[in-house]
Amino acid sequence: MFTKRFFIITNIILLTLVAVLGYILLFTGTEMVKLPEDNRVVVKYAPDLKKLVLSEMRDYLEVINEIQNGLAENDPQKIISAATRQGDISLQETPVRLLKLSPLQCKQMGFKGHDIFQTIADSAKVNFKRSTTIRQLSELTNNCIACHKTYRLETE
Ligand code: HEC
Repeated sequence: MFTKRFFIITNIILLTLVAVLGYILLFTGTEMVKLPEDNRVVVKYAPDLKKLVLSEMRDYLEVINEIQNGLAENDPQKIISAATRQGDISLQETPVRLLKLSPLQCKQMGFKGHDIFQTIADSAKVNFKRSTTIRQLSELTNNCIACHKTYRLETE
């Protein structure tokens, strides 16, 4: 015969177990995450090149933000100086080693991005129109997305 006490004790043990399991699943980061399928091509760079590429990427985002601020404030000068930073000038600083290690299509998308940054600066200089800059930004971010969908980086 099970006593009342037995039921109380087993209930307490069960509740404690549920609480501990719940805590582990919710707060310790051990739950499984369902990742989307990843078919991207792996590009391998030496550690210094990978760091350089990723810091460039973060700067792209900053430049885009500065361009958006310029749009919000109707200030072409802001747009020109931000976009110029990642335009033709930045290509001159690209290490040859990086170009050698990058697949052709990846390089082409990289060049296209710098091209669009330069076009954004040039059109804002010659004849600033917000709608033009917005359209160019959309073309630019479309290029970011295309490359991000295709490639991922690893250290050599
Ligand atoms: C030539 C290809 C290419 C283009 C163009 C490109 N990216 Fe990237 N970007 C990458 C790759 C590859 C990674 C690393 C992704 C990975 O390994 O998961 C990356 C990573 C990033 C990161 C993460 C940086 C970090 O510190 O981890 C940011 C932010 C980013 N890109 C922003 C941009 C923006 C904004 C643009 C467009 C203006 C852009 N990228 C255009 C290839 C590209």
